[in-house]
Amino acid sequence: MVGHQGSAPCIPVWKTGVFLSTLMPGEMELIVVVGCFKRRNNPDMTIPAELLQRLAVAKSVTVLTGAGISAESGVPTFRDAQTGLWAKFSPEELATPRAFRRDPRLVWEWYEWRRKLVVDAMPNPAHLALAEIERLFQRFHLITQNVDGLHQRAGSRNIIELHGNITRTKCSEEGTIVSSWKDTGDVPPKCPACGGLLRPDVVWFEEPMPEEEMQLAMTASTHCDVFFSIGTSTVVYPAAALPSEALRSGAMVVEINPQPTPFTPQAHFALAGAAGVVLPKLVRVISASRRF
Ligand code: OAD
Repeated sequence: MVGHQGSAPCIPVWKTGVFLSTLMPGEMELIVVVGCFKRRNNPDMTIPAELLQRLAVAKSVTVLTGAGISAESGVPTFRDAQTGLWAKFSPEELATPRAFRRDPRLVWEWYEWRRKLVVDAMPNPAHLALAEIERLFQRFHLITQNVDGLHQRAGSRNIIELHGNITRTKCSEEGTIVSSWKDTGDVPPKCPACGGLLRPDVVWFEEPMPEEEMQLAMTASTHCDVFFSIGTSTVVYPAAALPSEALRSGAMVVEINPQPTPFTPQAHFALAGAAGVVLPKLVRVISASRRF
């Protein structure tokens, strides 16, 4: 039996509701996970033999990605010290409905800056490796918290976008997707149909999660043989609960992240490296092991 270690919490996905939120100490619930886990640090980037054995026969693989997978494309993460966006900006001032009501221009311009950044960025070897891995399994789901569209541009197909997509724009009044508007100099621009303010089609803190995507993500996490949690700090819920849900459902759960996260103690394997290094290596060994 492995108890939950330190302050790392584990909350069932529906426990926190379906609103986007970070974990607050008062909301933490300690649960005990029963099982026999083999956690390893992996400085030489060896892919553990047991993982390879499971992947060799796996029919269904699910991957959860976060900002770390796009770090090697030059897109800043949120919580890395120094370089993370939330080290310089406050989520409350930029990524909540209240922030948009208070200062729509500031929020629009910040997202415009990020939109340009991601449009100019290119998929990196980690994105490309995931697109290849998708072709090697009968069932493959890629759940992403990222709004940058880099998985699509790398060729991944079965993508579940939990937090929306920054390259899309919607009307803040009607919620409809708006693809073009008149440039009247207004910032933010106005909806051509109703005159409401336009905003990025992303999920902000305190907003409800998209129901269909949440349901698909939950099903993909609880019906897979192997689950990868890649480049995410696992502190934003409900996405952060998906690795635990996969674990509870019997999947082998693997984390790929150069830094430990609250989920690390529970992972069967924690591959401590950059996704752009670990994933291409994983593709090579999976391709070899599934060629029989
Ligand atoms: P975070 O910024 O919280 O975490 C990024 C994770 O990526 C960290 O654990 C890093 O250690 C790891 N990382 C950095 N470079 C990496 C690399 N090359 N390879 C692999 N991992 C690397 O980002 P998320 O977990 O995605 O929501 O954050 C979740 C949500 O919080 C985001 O979707 C966003 C944010 O606020 C909204 O904006 C609504």
